Amino acid sequence: MDIQFNNLKQEKSAIGIIFCDHNCRLIGYGKKLDQLSKKHLSNTINADDSFNARKSKNFDYLIVHNPQNLTLSKLYIFKLRNIKNAANRDFQILGGNLLSLIKFYKENNIIIYPDGVSASKLSFVNSTSELLLGFLLASYKFTKYFSKRDAKAISKKTKIKIYSSQFSRLEKNYETVKAIHEGVTMTRNLVTEPPNVMTPPELAKNAASLEKIGVKVTIFGEKEMTKLGMGSLLSVGRGSEHESKLVIMEWKGHKNKKKKPIAFIGKGVSFDTGGVSLKPAGGMEEMKYDMGGSGVVIGLMKTLALRKAKANVIGVVGLVENHIGNMATRPSDVVKSYSGQTIEVLNTDAEGRLVLADALWYTQEKYKPELMVDLATLTGAIIIAIGNEYAGLFSNNDKLSKQLEDAGKIEDEKLWRFPLHDKFDKMINSPIADMQNISSGRGAGSITAAQFLQRFVNKVPWAHLDIAGTTWSKTNLPTSPKGATAFGVKLLNKFVSKYHEGK
Ligand code: BES
Ligand code: ZN
Ligand code: ZN
Repeated sequence: MDIQFNNLKQEKSAIGIIFCDHNCRLIGYGKKLDQLSKKHLSNTINADDSFNARKSKNFDYLIVHNPQNLTLSKLYIFKLRNIKNAANRDFQILGGNLLSLIKFYKENNIIIYPDGVSASKLSFVNSTSELLLGFLLASYKFTKYFSKRDAKAISKKTKIKIYSSQFSRLEKNYETVKAIHEGVTMTRNLVTEPPNVMTPPELAKNAASLEKIGVKVTIFGEKEMTKLGMGSLLSVGRGSEHESKLVIMEWKGHKNKKKKPIAFIGKGVSFDTGGVSLKPAGGMEEMKYDMGGSGVVIGLMKTLALRKAKANVIGVVGLVENHIGNMATRPSDVVKSYSGQTIEVLNTDAEGRLVLADALWYTQEKYKPELMVDLATLTGAIIIAIGNEYAGLFSNNDKLSKQLEDAGKIEDEKLWRFPLHDKFDKMINSPIADMQNISSGRGAGSITAAQFLQRFVNKVPWAHLDIAGTTWSKTNLPTSPKGATAFGVKLLNKFVSKYHEGK
């Protein structure tokens, strides 16, 4: 899909999209086109009682074929809801709606006249940029493994033109929109790829591809990690033929290159069979998305580098396959983590925390970050607790929690905070080692998992996002077709831009 910007123009055989407000009054360039067509457009609207009567539905439009005195072949008049209070996400959803419209009618030469979409508290450039982002995000389709071309996918040849009185400002802002789109797309691709393809070494290779855009990438294999003593992370990959990796991505965008970085850490289990504590067959296929946390961190680093974020950011991903095999870790094995603390592995299916334990400790020790945020499809229990609309938030710091919650609200990637407490911490004490990897009690499974992680965090502000319920969607969402959502990329990009840039 190719997007171009210009000022008010028409074109032969293109279709146009204009907007009217919730009272069906044409606004912006829509009004101008109405004047050029000698009121053909407003007359058509006025003649359509049902369009007039329908109350502010999310998605409503009228089609005018061969509008008089215009060269456009067709005009879609899109009826906006009352947008006085509309915020960022509302415009992303509007963009998603427009995408469904052109997909449904198989249009491929489209002019959007966005002037007039700005009657809200957001500036015109911002609201239109959000609209374009939603439009691009909604167009995602993973077609790589279809041997025949997929007729339902938006064609690469689809041309979108944005004709606006402020087109040059829109065009400038479009760089950021593209950066977010490309980061989200990368995450979705990594998560959607099957696990026989997207193995730990392949994930590492994808992370390494960010070198091209200025990210410094360091990759540790099993040899290096053995030397460092990362027995916790390494214990997870022992049953797999694919080598475990730890990848560190560094983006230094702050003017002070020595400023402490902020760090994002991702769980990257390329497939989670459960290991010797084998998962049941039904639903196991879902465990290809158990690398979702690492997918978000890699995609986020891509977005930050592409838009040249003015912040120092570290991304660390622990990449392993949790498989059965003759060398696989057994329930009751004791392993020694990089921090020196020992862990009794009572359930090999509680592997994410074992990966993050070493990744967190390494990040903290090596980079002395200002804060750490980890993302992981960590527990099934978080889905039982809050379903698929919110991700779980666990943190040792109120300010960090508030900032993350705020960014999540803006991007509609919502977080809900859960408690941490010494009483929960005690539930992972082991009779034979410093801790065990599952709780000895029943209940609070997501919290005790977070308590486990906290044992690998010192005083540094830290937050853990349990994204098990939000990484994959079984239904189409307004700007995310069913499948990999990339939940977290937009949220953390907003978190960085709003709270950690340039200061
Ligand atoms: N990867 C799973 C968690 C998960 C479940 C992610 C469903 C996405 C959807 C994790 O490694 C796991 O298996 N956790 C166990 C922990 C238990 C053994 C304490 C779980 O949630 O059952
Ligand atoms: Zn597991
Ligand atoms: Zn897992």
